[in-house]
Amino acid sequence: MKDIPDGSIDMILTDPPYLMDYRSNRRPASTRFMPIQNDTVANGKYCIEQSFAEYERVLKSNTALYVFCSWHHIDFFKTEFQKHFTLKNIIVWNKNNHGSGDLRGAYAPKHEFILYGHKGRSIFREKRLPDVLEFPKVPSAKLLHPTEKPISLLNVFLRNNSDEGATVLDPFMGSGTTGVACKNLSRNFIGYELDDEYFEIAKERIEGALK
Ligand SMILES: C[S@@+](CC[C@H](N)C(=O)[O-])C[C@H]1O[C@@H](n2cnc3c(N)ncnc32)[C@H](O)[C@@H]1O
Repeated sequence: MKDIPDGSIDMILTDPPYLMDYRSNRRPASTRFMPIQNDTVANGKYCIEQSFAEYERVLKSNTALYVFCSWHHIDFFKTEFQKHFTLKNIIVWNKNNHGSGDLRGAYAPKHEFILYGHKGRSIFREKRLPDVLEFPKVPSAKLLHPTEKPISLLNVFLRNNSDEGATVLDPFMGSGTTGVACKNLSRNFIGYELDDEYFEIAKERIEGALK
């Protein structure tokens, strides 16, 4: 991100690592979605802190950013967000999920949060929506990334706070869902991905996207 000039980005839409190890009763332990293999939560937090400072630097004035987050580290993400931006909403994505985790001792998780805010002030291009949005998850059989987000949900955010020809940044792009949505909606896209395998998947998806 250091290569991106100051004040050159029209919108950030990103889904950073949630700083968890994704162990559950259904899935084997995995460290793939931590920022760096064998990393600690503290190092992951440092990476997120640095990235928020860079978001502030690269965004133009009067733009919006959306950052996905789970409830586990919402306090940390909210604090970092508010160091740099005006937090306008914590949007709830209500998904058709049966959930995982403690199958006998915890309620089945059915939502994720999205921190939404402004650098300056960003005006909606489309109709105002409620802060609880219902969109189905990508079906498990079709998932290219374990935390892949539905394009239909990302489309709402892109259409509400950016224009055709805008440049959108997703520094944690996973399988490239934000890039695919951008291409379909005639936005330019800059994305990063640490994992080579997901980077190749993202590249293929974006190159093959409609437009
Ligand atoms: C929650 S996932 C994003 C999934 C994405 N929204 C999708 O639909 O496929 C976060 C991604 O960030 C990547 N990542 C973690 N640390 C990174 C870093 N420092 N730079 C770039 N990518 C990183 C992980 O490999 C992971 O694929």
